[in-house]
Amino acid sequence: MESLIETVNKLQDIFTTIGQDPIDLPQIVVVGSQSSGKSSVLENLVGFDFLPRGNGIVTRRPLVLQLINVPPSQDQDTDSNSSSVSPTEYAQFLHYPSKKFTDMNEVKNEIQAETERLAGKNKGIVRVPINLKIFSSKVLNLTLIDLPGLTKIPVGDQPTDIDIQIKQLVMEYISKPNSIILAVSPANVDLANSESLKVAREVDPEHKRTLGVLTKLDLMDKGTSAVDILTGRVYPLRLGFTGVVCRSQEETDSNKSIAEALVSEKQFFENHPLYRSIKQHCGSQNLAIVTKSLLASHIKEKLPEIKSKIDSLISSTEYELESFGIISETPQKNNLARLLKLITQFSTNFTNSVEGTWAELPT
Ligand code: GDP
Ligand code: NA
Ligand code: MG
Repeated sequence: MESLIETVNKLQDIFTTIGQDPIDLPQIVVVGSQSSGKSSVLENLVGFDFLPRGNGIVTRRPLVLQLINVPPSQDQDTDSNSSSVSPTEYAQFLHYPSKKFTDMNEVKNEIQAETERLAGKNKGIVRVPINLKIFSSKVLNLTLIDLPGLTKIPVGDQPTDIDIQIKQLVMEYISKPNSIILAVSPANVDLANSESLKVAREVDPEHKRTLGVLTKLDLMDKGTSAVDILTGRVYPLRLGFTGVVCRSQEETDSNKSIAEALVSEKQFFENHPLYRSIKQHCGSQNLAIVTKSLLASHIKEKLPEIKSKIDSLISSTEYELESFGIISETPQKNNLARLLKLITQFSTNFTNSVEGTWAELPT
């Protein structure tokens, strides 16, 4: 039995092949100010080092990242510090489908090269996304979108309106009513200054689809804690906040692996006298669980609408083909038929699918 999110991943594949996206499938969008820790959070969720990082504006095109869970490979990768992954774990770009990337450093380089191909070597941004899939036994089935960080002033040779350009790009993604917003704020900056919560509130005033992520809990002033924020007493987010600790720049520079980082993050929360008692609000693992369950309930709500949209898409395609005198099967029509079959199968088994989705989750 296919899980909910596997089905959605298939739908997205087919839509990409058709070259259009008539159905606005739910996706998780990561937003926040520059250097708030967006790339770090994404990497912790994925479990691999693969995102270009650095000072200043690094992400200059949206990155649509589709995580696909596959069974574990027989031969174990024993070197956890290695940037290469075992054979069943690989990455693939939509713009470069012939190559299976098994070296995450190469993925990083390719993202950089592909960013520069369209956005140049300067600091400009381009709206056209880079599409990347990561196949691994270590990921939950999720689609995440990384966006350039919100900034206030242009640096270097950036255009004077870079802040507006980035804000517009961010709004384009988060204003979609079916996007789930992962609003990242650093815990060492007063929450009242949070750029991510500010933009999230503009598009989601009732906080129906905004999930708060508090980074850098390890960098807070001694004697202060984020307990009030995490438990919703500071800023009431309906879907709550999750606190995380990601790798510091020093740890990144000394090649601390994600696996090691996740272990020390876990220890940080378990050993903390205050966070210990609110552990459902703490850690990257919990963030993954919360995110996936949000996605599932969101899709569940959208299902009837998606189905009727596919129905009418098939009818209009048939009509179009007939008007050109084309009766034979075409790839587009076949793809749509596949879509309908998938969605019908899925609707039939929906209750089981949701249970399956929950059962997959680590506890
Ligand atoms: P982005 O610009 O929002 O994508 O932020 P990055 O993920 O690139 O992080 C910016 C800087 O903050 C990097 O030097 C990270 O190593 C560091 N950083 C991110 N999260 C944490 C955290 O939880 N704790 C600490 N100590 N440093 C962090
Ligand atoms: Na940065
Ligand atoms: Mg980044």
